[in-house]
Amino acid sequence: MMSRTKVAALISGRGSNMEALVRAAQADDCPFEIALVLANKPDAKGLEIAAAAGVEALCVDQKPFGKDREAHERAIDAALRARGIQVIALAGYMRILTPFLVETWDGRMLNIHPSLLPAYPGLDTHNRAIAAGEAEAGCTVHLVTVGVDEGPILGQARVPILAGDDEHSLSARVLEQEHRLYAATLADFVERRFSV
Ligand code: GRF
Repeated sequence: MMSRTKVAALISGRGSNMEALVRAAQADDCPFEIALVLANKPDAKGLEIAAAAGVEALCVDQKPFGKDREAHERAIDAALRARGIQVIALAGYMRILTPFLVETWDGRMLNIHPSLLPAYPGLDTHNRAIAAGEAEAGCTVHLVTVGVDEGPILGQARVPILAGDDEHSLSARVLEQEHRLYAATLADFVERRFSV
């Protein structure tokens, strides 16, 4: 029996990418398992989705740590280590990381961003792509480095921007690809990095 790489999905909200990873991991030949879903806020919707899917859902609330982001990350890191997590998948985790977590998990932390990086890093990507008259949008899975949305690219998927698109129609089209791309790219990544 193949041993699966233990992945933690870090979320802040809806959790649809996390859910796609959980579903992908249900396949017999998937090389990873989502062993933990961790949120920085207790009201993150994805926590309920994870629990309903039988995945441990944990909130490490940022609130008691105030502005001390590193102390919050040390608590997150301790929770990950206690569970033998090997890879972090950021999935709509909406807090900027400090060098502490990024460096501790260097080469083992992935993120998904809803643009064709290096174009449109940061927030409000879909509106900016539409306003610029781009013909294409898409999503990117990349390794996390200290610069936001700047790490080495592991995979991308493209979609057209259609006449009349707004943020909602475009983000829905991209999100469908995010769900497919993240699971496929994570599977490739863990196979390359963790298979014996
Ligand atoms: C996704 O668009 C993801 O690319 C971005 O934040 C959004 C999270 O959505 N980083 P969800 O919580 O996975 O549904």
